Amino acid sequence: MAMNLMLMGLPGAGKGTQAERIVDTYKIPHISTGDIFRAAMKNETPMGLEAKKYIDKGELVPDEVTNGIVKERLAQADTKDGFLLDGFPRNMAQAKALEEIGKELDRPLTGVINIHVDPESLMERLTGRYICRACGATYHKVFNPTKVEGTCDRCGGHEFFQREDDKPETVKNRLEVNIKMNTPLLDFYKEQNLLHEVNGNQEIDKVFADVKSVLDNL
Ligand code: AP5
Repeated sequence: MAMNLMLMGLPGAGKGTQAERIVDTYKIPHISTGDIFRAAMKNETPMGLEAKKYIDKGELVPDEVTNGIVKERLAQADTKDGFLLDGFPRNMAQAKALEEIGKELDRPLTGVINIHVDPESLMERLTGRYICRACGATYHKVFNPTKVEGTCDRCGGHEFFQREDDKPETVKNRLEVNIKMNTPLLDFYKEQNLLHEVNGNQEIDKVFADVKSVLDNL
């Protein structure tokens, strides 16, 4: 069965961190709507400029934009034998849209992993995050620093940046927006027997060991 996966979790739960490990291990493409929007914002495309209006405030980008992007990406040939969606869907309208896309393209979800983290720890995780400019690997100044200071463990790059939407006032709104939408989505995937819960309140390698044990048994 193809690994058609979706990774859920509140902002800062560790989706990007675990996604790096999942795609390196299982050799499936990583489809992060957040990454797609940030690349479009960097290149100042019309879609990127539109998305920026919402992302800078910690709001969701409108569904019609986001659904269209995901459909276009899933239609590409490299998703035929599996994929990892990260950060999509985030509300019920997107979940329903993904169901339709899955039927149309013959790419139904086969597993959903929810990384559960106590919301109180998320502010600290997000405001301490830094990212490699060359490969996108994610670090944290306290919880997950690079092994050699100033050098990316993954690609050897030396330039890092912090995300614009990791400012405390934006993080607060991102958390509020996402917490509201999370419960109905979890119920939806639970009813379909697709949901697997993983404890994200532990060290990164331990979280991955739990993720791997879920995926190896799918
Ligand atoms: P997106 O990029 O998806 O951001 P997010 O959901 O807010 O999640 P993050 O990327 O911030 O967190 P993460 O869970 O990946 O955590 P990470 O691994 O980096 O979306 C950004 C914006 O785009 C949205 O706000 C929205 O506007 C828009 N958007 C995206 N998708 C959309 C959609 N479907 N619909 C509409 N709009 C959409 O980890 C965080 C930090 O913690 C890191 O520093 C990491 O090193 C550290 N860390 C990770 N794991 C651990 C651990 N176990 N212990 C300690 N520290 C840890």
